[in-house]
Amino acid sequence: MFQAAAKTLSSASTSSVSRGISSSLRHYCEKRLRVSEALSGADLGTNVKVQGWVRSVRPQKTNLFLHVNDGSSLQSLQVVAGSELNDPSLTFGSAVEVTGILKKSPSQTQPVELEAEQIHVVGKCNPLDFPFKIKDRHSLEYIRQFPHLRCRTNAFSSLLRIRSEATAAIHSYFKENGFLQIHTPIITSNDCEGAGELFQVEPSGPEHEEDENYFSVPAFLTVSGQLHLEVMSGAFSRVYTFGPTFRAENSQSRRHLAEFYMVEAEVSFTQSLEDLTKVMEGMFRSATEHVLARCAEDVDLFHKHVTPGHRGTVEAMMKRRFPVITYSEAIDILNSSSETFVFPTTWGCDLQTEHEKYLVKHCGNTPVFVTDYPYDLKPFYARDNLDGPKHTAAAVDLLVPGVGELCGGSLREERLDLLSARLEAVGLEETYSWYLDLRRFGSVPHGGFGLGFDRFLQCVLGVDNIKDVIPFPRFSHSCPL
Ligand code: 4AD
Ligand code: MG
Repeated sequence: MFQAAAKTLSSASTSSVSRGISSSLRHYCEKRLRVSEALSGADLGTNVKVQGWVRSVRPQKTNLFLHVNDGSSLQSLQVVAGSELNDPSLTFGSAVEVTGILKKSPSQTQPVELEAEQIHVVGKCNPLDFPFKIKDRHSLEYIRQFPHLRCRTNAFSSLLRIRSEATAAIHSYFKENGFLQIHTPIITSNDCEGAGELFQVEPSGPEHEEDENYFSVPAFLTVSGQLHLEVMSGAFSRVYTFGPTFRAENSQSRRHLAEFYMVEAEVSFTQSLEDLTKVMEGMFRSATEHVLARCAEDVDLFHKHVTPGHRGTVEAMMKRRFPVITYSEAIDILNSSSETFVFPTTWGCDLQTEHEKYLVKHCGNTPVFVTDYPYDLKPFYARDNLDGPKHTAAAVDLLVPGVGELCGGSLREERLDLLSARLEAVGLEETYSWYLDLRRFGSVPHGGFGLGFDRFLQCVLGVDNIKDVIPFPRFSHSCPL
């Protein structure tokens, strides 16, 4: 009789089984718990409802064992039921709602189990068609083929929890250090980096074909929030932004995306690059420590099964202060190395990933700051060191193990005469007249940097391909969802 009642409550495509206790009464007195809450053991002896997806099914003679996961933790909740609750639609990947009593588990491997009184299959999943198999440990490359389903795997759900915690950690770091968050625009008409890697934004549809430019000027998806932050640093001293950033570059690489997340900070009244490197290192350490402490199980999954051995690299990174070398010293190190590089090095050349990775290894496989790059390599905003004959700008990159460049930053040219001369030389004085205004009205020495958030996750977890650390990767020739 109960089963009939339960069926009317559920949709035609779902099924429900129970131990004969009226569930219409239970409906109001069960406590709905997330798996992580159930596992905490705070509700032992309570009648609860847990909802999630089946990660394993083990029918035995008299009992049925399930593991149910709802993304709230890496661990799944063990459900124990009488074999009469078994149902052919209870398969790996199906969505279920289980009600029962939370009990202390006799097993050593989990503290708590749910003794089921009712199991309701909310959504079926045909295990033959489902791309993930119950017993297989799938590689990151394999699960990447299923961007709409990979969040159902242990590895990718761990990654997404870590990503969420790391985001929170970065916001906390800035809040604790007196930075104001600014929502810099996504659509903008400036090309901050001057590299021409822009996606232009125009309305679609025939009714707009006549219009020259929707915004009256060409507009693009932002390549950096820096110039907007510089505006705000003229009133708030310490500001930051954290959001999606877009670059139309060749992104068929393991460290480039067309859409990535960048953390950018801008600090006023700076005296030297050290004012920036302190913030870069402070943020890196605080976010890494936060993730290691708050997502210990999830990080362990990566360090044990996905990128074995990487834990040691992370621990070594955290042990000592990050060394600082100048670009000129970096070139000397590269020139005196016995390694054969694809791109030969001479003073004035851009550092390639192979050079960055070599420098990191050379410095003890730890993050390393490289400062004072050739003036001609840096965008118009970088502060002139007024040196020579090797002319440099006060710019700094942070290079890290496994990734290479993680952060790029500089002191900004705050001297009106020098900045306008540089802009004039490239014909941009008019375009950036508002930027020159910032130097006319209360200009102060200032600087900032950007950190590639996706690359930060690669560095902490040891993940080789950037496409494996972002929920939905967008890169050239691919936008699957
Ligand atoms: O070095 P970049 O180009 O610096 C700037 O955009 C400055 N305006 C930032 C600032 O000073 N406010 O970019 C900063 C970082 C890089 O070091 C890299 O980690 C990351 O952003 N990045 C990318 N990450 C993924 N995919 C891409 N296509 C990236 N391009 C840059
Ligand atoms: Mg850079």
